[in-house]
Amino acid sequence: MSVVPEVAEKFGQSGARVLLERGAGTRAQFPDSAYKNVVWADSPGAVLEQSDVVLTVQPLALEQIQRLRSGTVVIGFMQPHARQAEVKALQERGITSFAMELVPRISRAQSMDALSSQAAIAGYKAVLIAANHLQKFMPMLTTAAGTIRPSQVLIIGAGVAGLQAIATARRLGAVVEAYDVRGATKEQVKSLGAKFVDTGVSAEGAGGYARELTEEEKRKQQEVLDSRIAAADAVVTTASVPGRAAPKIILRAAVERMRPGSVVVDIAAEQGGNCELTRVGETVEHQGVKIIGPVNLPGELAYNASEMYARNLLNFLKPAIDKGELAIDWTDEVFAQSCLTHAGQIKHAPTRKALEG
Ligand code: NAI
Repeated sequence: MSVVPEVAEKFGQSGARVLLERGAGTRAQFPDSAYKNVVWADSPGAVLEQSDVVLTVQPLALEQIQRLRSGTVVIGFMQPHARQAEVKALQERGITSFAMELVPRISRAQSMDALSSQAAIAGYKAVLIAANHLQKFMPMLTTAAGTIRPSQVLIIGAGVAGLQAIATARRLGAVVEAYDVRGATKEQVKSLGAKFVDTGVSAEGAGGYARELTEEEKRKQQEVLDSRIAAADAVVTTASVPGRAAPKIILRAAVERMRPGSVVVDIAAEQGGNCELTRVGETVEHQGVKIIGPVNLPGELAYNASEMYARNLLNFLKPAIDKGELAIDWTDEVFAQSCLTHAGQIKHAPTRKALEG
């Protein structure tokens, strides 16, 4: 849900009128009665025709884009790599669209960083899924029936999702190891009480992201990682490289070295998966090991995911509202860099290149 009651109120205070579809927040546990001072749309979809700014979680479908007035501003996740027909339609209809995944990762924009807020949820939830599928406790237990050894959890990729996964597994009492190709994560991993797996490969890319590994680096990484994967009861993988398919880090052979009853939760499933055996949206069992490829993990924590996403949108849009009127400052790098389409043009260079050659 892109507008929770608290955020609707804040938009109201800044002079904007909030138009809502009935029942829009119900699935995320925000009933219509929780919203004060909003205007209710007469019919489903009418918000598309009547709004100056449309806030959305998922990219709009083609038929929804057709209903927008030219000049409407749309803000939300746009998946520009995957949704080329929709980007083209936004361009042709003269829509100004901002993609939340393109918001620059600068200090000032942290409060607008929807990739981070949703990734933290995914990291948390992935560990709970792993815990649910394990036939073991995560913590060590000393009981009258003897001592239970704690589960071993390995987190691959220590970005926003991975760090939250480490913290969650630690809170549950597991013994946690983590790995990332960016050396800068070593201290962060340790500060959360986990052990850093050192493969001797360092691959810092531009903007704090990872770059793709060379074949030699992949081989080196594989050697060390495979033995750590084999030792783990649960592996949570979160590795991704912007604009590319997720790197394949757990190969079939590595799964076959894991103990029966072990679990892999692959958060990168929707980007192609970090495990060779992952099937998106499914749980695959291979020689007693479960490989889980979850879809839309933030949707499983819809209440908090909506709260955080709606605040990200508010923080993004508020500077562009002046006494209830929209006034976008195009010299502001946050707006300039996150703009996907504007005035009949595709503004985001990689998307333009992909569509126009
Ligand atoms: P992401 O979702 O693109 O990737 C997740 C993690 O996978 C990254 O840490 C990446 O290094 C790792 N990875 C990629 N290839 C791998 C491989 N082959 N093996 C193991 N790990 C691999 O990244 P995310 O979580 O969105 O953030 C990445 C960076 O952005 C971090 O440096 C983070 O600190 C920075 N960041 C900065 C913010 C700001 O300044 N406003 C806000 C959020 C993140």
